[in-house]
Amino acid sequence: MLRQKIPSFSSIDSRTESHRLFVGHVLDSSIVLIVRCILVANRDAEPVGVASLVEAFHRRDIHLQVVSPSGVEVHLEPSKGATVVPRLSPGTVVIHRNVMQSIPLLTLAFDCWSDCGVDILNDFRRSTLSRNKFEAAVALDRAGIPVVDAVAFTPPHFGPMPKSDRLVVKPACGARGIGVERVQSLEDWLEPVDLMPQSYRPFWIAQPEVLNADQDWRAFVIDGKCVAIMRRRAVRGEWRANAFLGAECTPDDPKNKFGLAAEKAVLSLGLDYASVDIFNTDSGPVINEVDPWGGFAAISRTTGIDVADRIADLVALRAVGSGL
Ligand SMILES: Nc1ncnc2c1ncn2[C@@H]1O[C@H](COP(=O)(O)OP(=O)(O)OP(=O)(O)O)[C@@H](O)[C@H]1O
Ligand SMILES: [Mg+2]
Repeated sequence: MLRQKIPSFSSIDSRTESHRLFVGHVLDSSIVLIVRCILVANRDAEPVGVASLVEAFHRRDIHLQVVSPSGVEVHLEPSKGATVVPRLSPGTVVIHRNVMQSIPLLTLAFDCWSDCGVDILNDFRRSTLSRNKFEAAVALDRAGIPVVDAVAFTPPHFGPMPKSDRLVVKPACGARGIGVERVQSLEDWLEPVDLMPQSYRPFWIAQPEVLNADQDWRAFVIDGKCVAIMRRRAVRGEWRANAFLGAECTPDDPKNKFGLAAEKAVLSLGLDYASVDIFNTDSGPVINEVDPWGGFAAISRTTGIDVADRIADLVALRAVGSGL
C-alpha cells in the first residue's frame, strides 16, 4: 500500500504552519494527503541510517526534514506554558534516531509536542527506556519474556555477580559491540575510558556468558510484524556477533521462533519499530536487546528488505490514520 509512483506536490504551501515541511502524497486519483514529517537525529552518529531514511521518504515525494538535537529548544513563558521550537502543528509525524546525548532536553520537547497532537513514532520515553539495556530487560522480564540475568553497577563498586564461568560486561547504553567485554571475574575488568560518544554510560551491566552467543539473530520489527531477520555469526577470533565487527550475516525466515520472540518483545515495550537481538538457548529464544534506534543497513543488505522503506510506509500510514 502507498507505494505507487506519486507526483510531487512540494510546492504546496500552508499559511497555518510555522515550518514548511510539506509534501504531496497521492492516495488515489482524488485524494491528496499532505504528510509532514521530521526526523530528529544526530546525523554524525549514524549518517548512513539517516541518509537511507531521507532517500526512502524522497522516493515517495515526502520531504523528510532532518533536525539535529541542537536545533530543538523548549521555551517556557510563565503562565502560558512550555512550547517547542520548531513549532509543529497537530498531525505532524516525528521520528527520531541516535540522540543519546540529548535525551534530557528532548524528553521535555517530545512531551510538549505530544501534548500538542504531534504524532511521535516510537514514544520517546519508551524509546529511551529501551535504549537502556537493563531497564528494557526489567520491563521484558515483567512481561514474562525470557531475558539474560544481569547486574547493573557503577564502578568501582560491585557486589555478587551472576554465577557463571565467565561474565560479559557492557555499557547499559551501547552499540556495535563497543565496550562489550568478556572476563573471568570483575576483578579482571578495567573500565574502558575511550568509548564512542554514542556509548553513553549511565552505568554498566554484567551478565553470565550465554553459550554459543557468538551466533545470534538480528530481527527488525515494524508495526508489530517481523519484516526482516538474519542470523549473525562472529568472524574467526571474535566472539561478538555484531555486523559492525564483521559477523557473517545470512537471511532467515521472519516467521521463525526468533522472529516471533522479537515481535512479542517490541510489542511489550510499546514501540512502533525496533531492531531486536536474540540468543538461541536450550530453553528457547532469549532477548538480548530491543533498540528503537537500531541500525538497518546490514539487515537490509542481507535480506533484501529495505527497512528504511518500510519505516517510511509506516509514517505514511500513520499520517492517514491521523485523519489528515
Ligand atoms: N551475555 C552474553 N553472553 C555471550 N555473548 C554475549 C552476551 N552479551 C553480548 N554478547 C555478544 O556480544 C554481542 C554484542 O553485545 P550487545 O548486543 O549486548 O551490545 P551491542 O552490540 O553493543 O549493542 P547493539 O546491538 O545495540 O549495537 C552480541 O551480539 C553477542 O554476540
Ligand atoms: Mg547487539
